Amino acid sequence: MIGYKTLAVPGPTNMPHEVQRSMQIPLEDHRAPDIPEFTKPLFSDLKDIFRTNTGEVFVFPGSGTGGWEAAISNLLTAGDGVLTSSFGQFSSLWVDMCRDYGMDVHNCDVPWGEGVPLDKYYDVLSSDKGHAIKAVLVCHNETATGVTSDVSGVRRILDELGHPALLFVDGVSSVASLDFRMDEWGVDVIVSGSQKGFMLPTGLCIIGVSSKALNNCSGSSVPSGYFNFHQMKKMNNDGYFPYTPAMTLMRGLRASIDLLNNEGLSNVVARHNRLANGVRAAVDAWGLRNCAVAPKWHSDTVTAIVVPETHDANDVISAAYHNYGVSLGGGLGKVAGKVFRIGHLGWLNETMVLRVLGGVEMAMRDVGIPFQAGSGVGAAVESYTDSRQNLALAAE
Ligand SMILES: Cc1ncc(COP(=O)(O)O)c(C=O)c1O
Repeated sequence: MIGYKTLAVPGPTNMPHEVQRSMQIPLEDHRAPDIPEFTKPLFSDLKDIFRTNTGEVFVFPGSGTGGWEAAISNLLTAGDGVLTSSFGQFSSLWVDMCRDYGMDVHNCDVPWGEGVPLDKYYDVLSSDKGHAIKAVLVCHNETATGVTSDVSGVRRILDELGHPALLFVDGVSSVASLDFRMDEWGVDVIVSGSQKGFMLPTGLCIIGVSSKALNNCSGSSVPSGYFNFHQMKKMNNDGYFPYTPAMTLMRGLRASIDLLNNEGLSNVVARHNRLANGVRAAVDAWGLRNCAVAPKWHSDTVTAIVVPETHDANDVISAAYHNYGVSLGGGLGKVAGKVFRIGHLGWLNETMVLRVLGGVEMAMRDVGIPFQAGSGVGAAVESYTDSRQNLALAAE
């Protein structure tokens, strides 16, 4: 195919030129004497991205799934109570992992399209008088359904009840794109990966751990060799790692953090909201439905779009890819064939999203989904020009 392909899956995301260039370097000695001059500021700047002063941020070679395992293996013991909810592929897989590790899982099964059920979390935690529940899990942004949950709401419940459980958060598709505040929300473990908001290739598992959690890493029954927080912290204190780190990716991470900081984290979050509003306007104009059933759940990093029952979403994805070189996200698990997903996170601007929406329109035409051609693109154009004008007015 001639011309650019369009990457519109919700991770991996588009990689900025600066990040690409920063990794086009010879391999280097990870034990060189000057490595701490690079790593220590990196660790410190990562804490700002996670918005923590009191916690630590660790960079493991791995991916988001490894982060789930790190949280469990460092902090829990087989038989510990864990409060969870499943409402999409990723929230469910973390729950499965807890079960595989022998945790006593209290799971809230939530319809896909909704998020963490605060009322049910309240009920379970308030009846847990003996504090058998040691960790509460929250998937901040369920990438399979495009649903964002209220992490601070879970913290409020824990505080109101004086419940000491640790708060574990999956921020794989939220950190560095959506508003996330580790200290303010009292998050004990936040798991993220390199290939979404950080705009890098897959390969890093970036985890924030609170001091409360670090003090809790006492003799877990689960072996935590590779992901051992204390071994990592001990070596990181001097700027090094317990094993060969992914130096090249960390050079990229440096460039990515610089880009995020140059834009300003709050502007990054606002940009994601603007871009997402345009996508949601397009979905409405097409006469289709967002899988996230209410605005309070709408994700600013990914939108899952429900196709009419007469159609298979996989056909839209296939037409978009084969006919126009546009990669859309597929429906996973329970929503396979029912939704296609547009990732709108990372290094992205309005015209890049419009290109995706144009590709989606052509693909939907090809497979015979009825809608007015140009309606979604037009609605997004209106949304973007309006928000630009509002930005300009606010700046005056
Ligand atoms: C919300 C969420 N959690 C966890 C994962 C798993 O991360 P990884 O694929 O990096 O292991 C993903 C992957 O897309 C995700 O979106």
